Amino acid sequence: MRFSTASLLALPLLAAAAQQETPLEQAKAQAQYWFDKISSYIPNPNRQHTPHAATAKAGGKSLHVLTLDNWEHTIRSSVKPTSTTPEEWWVFVTGGNKTCFGHCIKAETAFNETAALWSVNPAAPNLAYVDCDNQPVLCNSWGAGPPSLWIMEVSTPPAPVDIRVKSLNATDTTVKTFTDLQASKEWKEKPVYDGYFHPFDGPLAKYGVAVPLGYVFWVFATIPSWLFMIGISFLSRSVM
Ligand SMILES: *[C@@H]1O[C@H](CO)[C@@H](O)[C@H](O)[C@H]1NC(C)=O
Ligand SMILES: *[C@@H]1O[C@H](CO)[C@@H](O)[C@H](O)[C@H]1NC(C)=O
Ligand SMILES: *[C@@H]1O[C@H](CO)[C@@H](O)[C@H](O)[C@H]1NC(C)=O
Repeated sequence: MRFSTASLLALPLLAAAAQQETPLEQAKAQAQYWFDKISSYIPNPNRQHTPHAATAKAGGKSLHVLTLDNWEHTIRSSVKPTSTTPEEWWVFVTGGNKTCFGHCIKAETAFNETAALWSVNPAAPNLAYVDCDNQPVLCNSWGAGPPSLWIMEVSTPPAPVDIRVKSLNATDTTVKTFTDLQASKEWKEKPVYDGYFHPFDGPLAKYGVAVPLGYVFWVFATIPSWLFMIGISFLSRSVM
């Protein structure tokens, strides 16, 4: 009976693959097929924000709350096709008890206060906020850990997006940390990030596997270890 199960599983793959041309496209179609299948069984870990909470308006400029669904559009849409200078984005990556062990509150409060301070300052960068407790897949797909600040310079594509990542000290980050950083432009001395997980230009994002990987990491982090052990012992027994 093993054979028939295997061929049954292979059928939709072949059907999906037959419509594609190159082997790469076929492989991508197969991966997409399984990803869609599997993700329909996974509970959605990304907690939605109500539209009301999506932008916390404080005067003129707002603090954008990023989610897996809106981050790219939110950031990209700030760039006007005619503009010659890149849009500067400061994305604050934070977490609660799950991803930051409750240590991010101080830095997060400082960032929120900075956002309020800058809301009336037209020269201030665009500000955004990611909570890894609510957006585990987004954080995993960027390889981002709290508390950190992702400073992005965004131009019209195909120009690359320059990103510099600054880890923040959870115990001594204050409003002054951010205002000093903006005044001194010291962040510009950091090397530009060019890792695999670069959200816009990294190879994982280009091939569309960053988000599926984000789900994989999230599942591994979520499965209780006892379940994992049972799975492994089950697998090794059926192999032997
Ligand atoms: C985080 O943990 C602290 C201390 O254990 C607790 O008081 C607080 O309610 C928790 N917060 C959330 C959002 O679960
Ligand atoms: C900071 O602002 C965000 C977005 O408005 C909000 O969700 C979060 O609760 C705020 N954090 C603190 C510590 O005030
Ligand atoms: C964070 O700041 C505190 C106080 O200034 C310092 O003692 C600590 O070593 C710093 N931690 C890191 C990781 O730099």
